[in-house]
Amino acid sequence: MAVNPKQTAGERAADYVSDGMIVGLGTGSTAYFAIVRLAERIRDEGLGIRCIPTSERSATLARELGIPLTSFAEVLHVDVTIDGADEVDPAFNLVKGGGGALLREKFVASASETELIIVDETKLKKRLGAFPLPVEVVPFGWQLTRQRLQQLGGEARFRSSDNGAFVTDNGNYILDCSFGAIDDPPELERRIVGTCGVVECGLFTGLATRIIIGKSDGGLEERTEPGTLS
Ligand code: A5P
Repeated sequence: MAVNPKQTAGERAADYVSDGMIVGLGTGSTAYFAIVRLAERIRDEGLGIRCIPTSERSATLARELGIPLTSFAEVLHVDVTIDGADEVDPAFNLVKGGGGALLREKFVASASETELIIVDETKLKKRLGAFPLPVEVVPFGWQLTRQRLQQLGGEARFRSSDNGAFVTDNGNYILDCSFGAIDDPPELERRIVGTCGVVECGLFTGLATRIIIGKSDGGLEERTEPGTLS
């Protein structure tokens, strides 16, 4: 049977969850497998957890699977979050937001003691930037925000969906920005989020604590020390 590296990584990440934890549920095709596995553990082992989803899509999936949900109205700390990424560099900097959930993903990651990032090998990059960087912006005056992002050196493309504008769970737009190879991710992140009109950007720096990599040969690799990704 063909191996799905996203499934291998996602299912492995679910092993790090234990009874009583508050768990952040990521978004995307890799996080999907972690969520399904957590539902199995709840059913088969009686695992007692409460989860905070990073998108309406993951919330819907979790509800369908019978996963108990909570929110920041009830808890202000997350024990572990499991989420995917679009790119990962050797310093554990990430590009996220291909699915448009970057704001809630970063919000939940910033509240998490442990941030597990699950990827297949294709997401590992020496330098970030081949994947256009998603930037969430307020609809008001987005054209001006786009111009400001372009002045930072990014070629910014408005994200559309089949029905017109792509609108995030927070009612905002996404500009996908090509900055080329990113030399200094923390500095670029600071400059983008300091731009008026920007709500958040998909550069995640200093948040990932473990990278779990599913391999095409069925193997797994885990990294906890930045600098050790090849
Ligand atoms: C969602 O907004 C993203 O940040 C995802 O985590 C990222 O795009 C990875 O998605 P896949 O696991 O589907 O590749």
